Amino acid sequence: MSQDDVWARFPRGWFGIGFSNEFPKGEPKPIRYFSQDLVAYRDDHGQVQVLEAHCPHMGAHFGHGGKVSGSCIVCPFHAWKFGGDGQCVEIPYARKIPPRARVKAWPIREVNGAVLMWNDPDGGAPDFEVPVLPEIGSASWLPWATHRYHIKTHPREIVDNLADKAHFPAVHRTDIDEFGFDTDGVTATQRVRGRAHFGDGKVDPFASTTTYHGPGVLLMRMDGLMQNRMMLLHTPVDAGTLDLRMGVTLKVVGDEKTTAGYVDMYMANLRAGFEDDIRIWEHKVWRHPPLLCEGDGPVGSLRKWYRQFYRPIGRPEGEAQS
Ligand code: FES
Ligand SMILES: [Fe+2]
Repeated sequence: MSQDDVWARFPRGWFGIGFSNEFPKGEPKPIRYFSQDLVAYRDDHGQVQVLEAHCPHMGAHFGHGGKVSGSCIVCPFHAWKFGGDGQCVEIPYARKIPPRARVKAWPIREVNGAVLMWNDPDGGAPDFEVPVLPEIGSASWLPWATHRYHIKTHPREIVDNLADKAHFPAVHRTDIDEFGFDTDGVTATQRVRGRAHFGDGKVDPFASTTTYHGPGVLLMRMDGLMQNRMMLLHTPVDAGTLDLRMGVTLKVVGDEKTTAGYVDMYMANLRAGFEDDIRIWEHKVWRHPPLLCEGDGPVGSLRKWYRQFYRPIGRPEGEAQS
């Protein structure tokens, strides 16, 4: 496999397909990720299920008119019923169910107010979990303020940011005083102390710890003027585009209404920051290896860490390159 072919695979790991409130009970939703048409539905027990979208019978899309029944979805065309494991369990007008009447199903977790689906191009089972943030759902923190972008880029560009120390002053008007980076298995962590410069001349000194849990879920804690948590979920839609969802929350200080006003300000700043990145991502080319110099961050170590999620299962590092 050549260097370029490796990146043509989709990464293995947990990927956000939406915040919890995007999946009301009983409303199947057509979604598309990893170049596949899918249906997501919250079943009558509250569990989100994700199945291949098209019925094996005559090809109807479950997400357009399908009905939820118990843990199953009923096809809108001839009412074949499929369980959350993708197996057809009932055909209203036939006693015998054809053995191939099943669709693919994906492992799902609902954690930190988001729905994650497990993607593994080799069909492997989940081998790590995303940690629970105790702040989410607690009375002393606000619910997530959320936003979603659809971006024309490859996920590796988003992940590169974690180690790219030198882009902070140029893109984000942020001075970095301390920058640390380390990896441990499926996690990669950046620790920063710095000063953010706002348009109105205000300076916010901050300390942040930002960790990728696998290739698609980032959790950040930042302590500055306020205590802030951020979640970033980026998920490939197809080979050239992805959805990036962000959630931000603040610890309530004083009353909730005042803190909520600050969240709007934080979100506006974060969005401005991402939009600066997006402008770069959507037009750049991939350089590997990049031409690095003194003062650049540990981009090489980050890329080495990130490559593990593209490796065919069970293959040691390096084999996927040849
Ligand atoms: S196409 Fe789904 S039941 Fe016929
Ligand atoms: Fe950035």
